[in-house]
Parts: sequence; structure tokens; C-alpha cells
Amino acid sequence: MSYHPKSHGAATGRIGAYSLAVCLMLQPVFAVDVYKDKNAPVEERVADLLSRMTLEEKVSEMILKPYYPPSQYGVGGHGEKENAQKVVIHPDTLKQVQEGKVGAFLKANGVATNRVLQEQQMKHSRLGIPLMFHEDVVHGYRTILPVPIASACSWNDDAIEKAEAVAAREASASGLQLTYAPMVDVTSDPRWGRIMETSGEDPYLGARIAAARVRGFQGDSEKDLSRNDTIMGCVKHYAGYPSLEGGLDYYYKDFSWRDLQETYLPPFQGAIRAGVGSVMCSYTAYNGEPATFNRFLNIDVLRNQLGFKGLLVTDWNTLNHAKSMGASASNKESAERGIKGGIDMDMTSGQYMNLIQLVKEGKVPMKLIDQAVAHCLKAKFQTGLFDDPYRYFDEKKEKEILLSNRNKADALAITQESIILLQNKDNVLPLSPDHRVALTGWLADNGKNQLGSWDASGKGEESITVFKGMKEIWKDNLVSDSQAFTTNIPKSLDLIKDVDTVVVCLGENRSWSGEASNRATLELSDDQIEHLKAIKKAGKKIISIVFAGRPVIMDEIAQNSDAVLYAWFPGTMGGTAIAQLVSGEVNPSAKTCQTFPRHAGQIPVSYRWHRPFHYTGYSDMPRTPFYPFGFGMSYTTFNYSAPKTNKEEYAIGEPVQVTVKVANTGKRAGREIVQCYIRDEIASVVPRERELREYTSVDLQPGEEKEVTLTLPPSAFEIITVDQKRVIEPGSVQIFVGPDSTTQNKTSIRLAAAQ
Ligand code: GLC
Repeated sequence: MSYHPKSHGAATGRIGAYSLAVCLMLQPVFAVDVYKDKNAPVEERVADLLSRMTLEEKVSEMILKPYYPPSQYGVGGHGEKENAQKVVIHPDTLKQVQEGKVGAFLKANGVATNRVLQEQQMKHSRLGIPLMFHEDVVHGYRTILPVPIASACSWNDDAIEKAEAVAAREASASGLQLTYAPMVDVTSDPRWGRIMETSGEDPYLGARIAAARVRGFQGDSEKDLSRNDTIMGCVKHYAGYPSLEGGLDYYYKDFSWRDLQETYLPPFQGAIRAGVGSVMCSYTAYNGEPATFNRFLNIDVLRNQLGFKGLLVTDWNTLNHAKSMGASASNKESAERGIKGGIDMDMTSGQYMNLIQLVKEGKVPMKLIDQAVAHCLKAKFQTGLFDDPYRYFDEKKEKEILLSNRNKADALAITQESIILLQNKDNVLPLSPDHRVALTGWLADNGKNQLGSWDASGKGEESITVFKGMKEIWKDNLVSDSQAFTTNIPKSLDLIKDVDTVVVCLGENRSWSGEASNRATLELSDDQIEHLKAIKKAGKKIISIVFAGRPVIMDEIAQNSDAVLYAWFPGTMGGTAIAQLVSGEVNPSAKTCQTFPRHAGQIPVSYRWHRPFHYTGYSDMPRTPFYPFGFGMSYTTFNYSAPKTNKEEYAIGEPVQVTVKVANTGKRAGREIVQCYIRDEIASVVPRERELREYTSVDLQPGEEKEVTLTLPPSAFEIITVDQKRVIEPGSVQIFVGPDSTTQNKTSIRLAAAQ
């Protein structure tokens, strides 16, 4: 109840004055503190709470602690596993919470555990400030989705959004409010293991997908964030993380301001425009200064240029890393430089506890603490934790939501659109379920490996493997033997002797990609290639299913296969999707978001290189990639008319409309991902070969033709000048519309300076 004094006439006036006096006396008893008023604006609630906090309480809000279950301390098991009645929290962890030394946890999972931690927090927090729980939900929580580089190959913003909503429902049902995703790094180096977490090599595709992932996690507005089936996104790693020596994780390499603006920032801008609530800074450095301390990155660019107003957290231990990298003399120095560099929250290092002393010594102004704590508190208000600290801790709901049929169906949908048909000689695919087929290879029934890295709470035994998926459709026509789920050639040759077609499941170990997992070569292991060749030599038709977290070298696989489906790490529903694609129940539509090199020696390799004055090549192999960016096949064929624009000359600042007719010239219904690239013929800075500027998809029945209209906004033609201005320069631009980045289906326009 809040008091609103009224006054109507003398009598009422006396009564009014009396009641005003009484209410003012009682005000402290009846009025709700603004920060507890769920109808008050978040900014006001934050300011009110901040005004009541001590320095120690403020600094504690900036501490993000890793949660270690007692079993990792060698103490009794993690409650909900070994003692369902009682959750066991390590005494050290309990003490830290009871002493009010934790703002949020990462790696605390599950309603049972997180509820106990929250109860302890609410029991001891003087102002009733709840804990928040973060986790790496990178591609699903329990129903594991295809790795991000796979789902990006769908080029389907809506399907990706729907898939991330699965992750949000499951993570929030398990007591989490923030995920360290989307990862939006852009790289052209498949040696780097974290390429599996990216959405490919193109900043425009990456920006649209980043926005889709954020909408999937958070919903469409700040209000949706407070629902208990959404989670806050944390877009990462800000910024320029992929700039590495030799594709080696953590070996930072300088990158230019132009690299930052043209390649690394666009996906962050996409996520921020979609309302992402937090950002994680990266292990890298810019202009020689660690990102953790970098005011140019974290204030000038992130806050002022990109307009980010949310929570900025360090990546794991980066405050300690600065010292171990030799970029800081002490952890106390790191804490001072971190807060002055714009970091709000310190993940795992605990060094931000030094801020209490630093403020007392006058080295850090309280203003900086207040700014950071305001961002920490804002995230808790936005996710509804102050209105109901237990909103995310319903054990019954947790059991209903995890691996629900709805979640598995939504995961299946994105998986079907993530797997690329790279080859299909003599239309060996689709393969009828009436056709006897053998299944072999070490990844035919490996549920854990198909989840890929960063598999959160996923369980290998819950995966639908290729074996399970194909058995469902081929039934007795599937010839298999678990002994042949290897690269053992005699066992495979014995298995396949009575069939003419063999499905071979090969690929990378899931541990070969992900964080700190790099490769200098990109071939699959010799035993897998020899196994494939032996089956080929036996005269069989071969359908290869390739599992990987990066583009691998494909020439020997392609040479020894009739058809190739690139499954990446497809997640829980992988086997069902693969079986449906092999049988033709689903027609493949995926197109690669990452260039496939012929050889690691070509790296870094991308379609969007800057234009050379002369096209040299290699004396020992073609310069071109093995599969280009945007490539993917279908069981049908499509034909494009020449693109047409609504005019030949445009005033700068006008949008450009491009139309093209796409026809299904085959015998099966299919979806075509239509891509639109521009090539700036002449610019004041060296232009790139071409750049993706729009894409859409069209579903066509056999023989059907549709007109597709693509609208290029003025920003599609912007360049960044030498003096760092974003302008549209007059001149001619070629516009390509086609099935992949090599299309020569083009038209051209002139951009004329406004008269
Ligand atoms: C890791 C990763 C980051 C992850 C964080 C928390 O080192 O760089 O992507 O979110 O630590 O696990």
C-alpha cells in the first residue's frame, strides 16, 4: 500500500491532515520498500536497494563462485544422487553463503541443490538478496541439441529460436537463471576446437543467429525474462577470442580495429539488439591489453558504441590469468584494473574481494562499485528472483520438463535441418526401408560421443544413436552387430557380405573439439579411412555419416563414399534425424556455415577474403575449398532465374529490392536456402570478395516455382572508411543470389550520391 494524500474541502481537510499525520508516522510500518515493490521500475528498485547496502554486501554481489559438489571434496555424495532425501552441501560452501560472500553460483545444478542454497541465502541475507544460478547451457541442458555450428547450418532463425527455448525450459526448470551462451565468435580456422560452439565464419549469419538464440533463451522482452521458463543469455566471448596463433586456444594474437568492427562485433550487436542480459569477456587481449582490463573494449565499444546496459562478467578466472600471463603484478592489481576496466562480476577468481580494501584505501571510487553492483542486481530483478526467490525450484516441474516429448520433438526438428547432404552419387539416397542395409563404424551406437562437447546434463544413454534410429525404420532389414561398431575390417567384411549397401558411421572423438581442444591436422584417423576403403574395395555402395565438431578433411571420405551426410555432433535426437534423412522421410536442406578446406595448409580459409590484385594459388593443390561456405545438397534440384532489382540506380540510403524465381526441378518436395551476396566493385578501402547480406528459405513442391523477394537495407552497402566512419559510397555493386557462396547468378546496380 502506498499513501496518496487527498483533500476535499475544510472538514475533509482536517481529516485529511490528521490521516496524513497518522500515515506519515506509520509510514515505515506500512509502506513497501521500493526494491520490494514488484510494480516499481527495475532501475528504481536497484537504486533503492543499492542505497541500503554496505560496501561488503555490495562487493559480495560481484562474486561469482563455482559450485563444487561435496563428492569433489571427497565428502559424501552430491545429495540428490546418493541420498535423495537430503542434499549434502559442503560445509565450506554453506559457510560462504551464510556469511553473505556469494552473489551467484555457476555449476550448481538441479532444483534439490539450488533450493537448499537459496534457503540458506534467504535465511542469512540482511536485505533478502537472493542468489542467482548460472551454467553453460551451450546447446541444450538435458535434451542435448546439435552443437551450435550444426544448428547454424539450418540458416533457420525461427527453428534455432525454438530449439534454444527447449534449452531455456529445461535449464530454468532445473534451478538456473542464466546461461553462458550464445557463443558468437567468428573464425576461419577449423584447427581451433571451439569452432564447434560458433555459428560459422560469417558475421551477418552470426548476427542473425545470435539474435535468434537470445530470443529463444529470454523470450521477446524484458518482461519474458522474469518467467520461470526462460533464462538470461550471456553472449560471449567479448571480443576477438578467435584471433589465435596456429588455432591454439588461449594463444592470443593481435587483431585490428577493423577486424573488431567488421568481423567480431556484428554478432554481439545482434545479441544486444535482441536484449541479451549479460556479456562474458574473453581470454584474449586487444591492443596488448587483456580484455578483462580493457576500457576501450568494455566501455567505449560495448557500452557506448553497441549500447549494452547489462551485466559484464569475466570468463573463468581471468583476473588470476592476467597475473599468470605476466600482464598484472598481483591479484589485487588485477581487481583494481578489472573494476576500472568495466567488469561487473568476477567469475571464480574471488579476487574482487580485494575491492573492499581498495575502496578503503581510496584507490577505487565507490561510484565504480555501485555501477557494477547495479548491473549484478538488475539481472536478479529482471529474472524475477526478488519477487520469488524460489520461482525456479519446483522439483515436480523439473521431472516433467526434462526430456519431455515436446522438447525432444523440437530438438528433432532442428537436428533434421542441421545435417548436411554433401554428396549423393547416382542418387543412392534416399534409401528405401525395404532395402537391406548394413550398419558399421565406431560411431554407429555411441550415444555419448554424438552429444559433442559442452553437453551440460546430457546423458549418452538417453541419445538416439544411428543404430537405434535406423532399427526403428529398417527393422529386420538392418544388418548389424555391435561387434562391428568398430573399425575392425574382418568383422565388418563378414557383416556386409550379403548386402549391397552399407552405412558407415565415422568421425572425431567429441573430446577433439571444445575448449582447449585443438588439432594441427584435420584428417580422420587412419584406421577409419582404411576401414572405409576396405568396404569400398568389397564393392559396396557406401553411405558415410560423419560426426565432427569442425570441418574435417573430406577428400578420402568423399572418394570412398557414394553419399555423405555431415552430422556434426547432432545431440540426443541425432540417430532419429539421420535415419529419417537416409530414408527420405525428411529431405536434407542444411548448408554449411563454415568453409571446408582441402588441407590444413589453406587455413585460415573463408569465402570473404579481401580481394587480391592477382589470383595466385598453390603449386601443390587447388586454392579453392573442398566445400564452399553455404553449400549443401537436397534430394531434389532447384533452378534460379537471373536476379532482378526494382531499379538500376539507387540514391544512397535507399533499400534495394532483389527478386528471383526459384523452381523445384526435381521429383521431391524440398526446402532451398536462398543466399544473397554483394560485391562492392570499388571502395575507398580494399573490399572483400563478396559478403552475405541476406538469406531466406523457400519450400517447393516438385515442379513448383516461387518468386522470392529479398530487401537489402542501406546498411547492407556500408563500408568503414580509413578514418573509421561507416558510410555508403557511390559506385557499382554486384548482387549475387544463389544456392551457395560461389554462385555467379548475378545482377548489378549503381549507388548514386544523393543529389
Ligand atoms: C570457460 C569458457 C567459457 C565458459 C566458462 C564457464 O573457460 O571459456 O566459455 O562459459 O569457462 O564454464
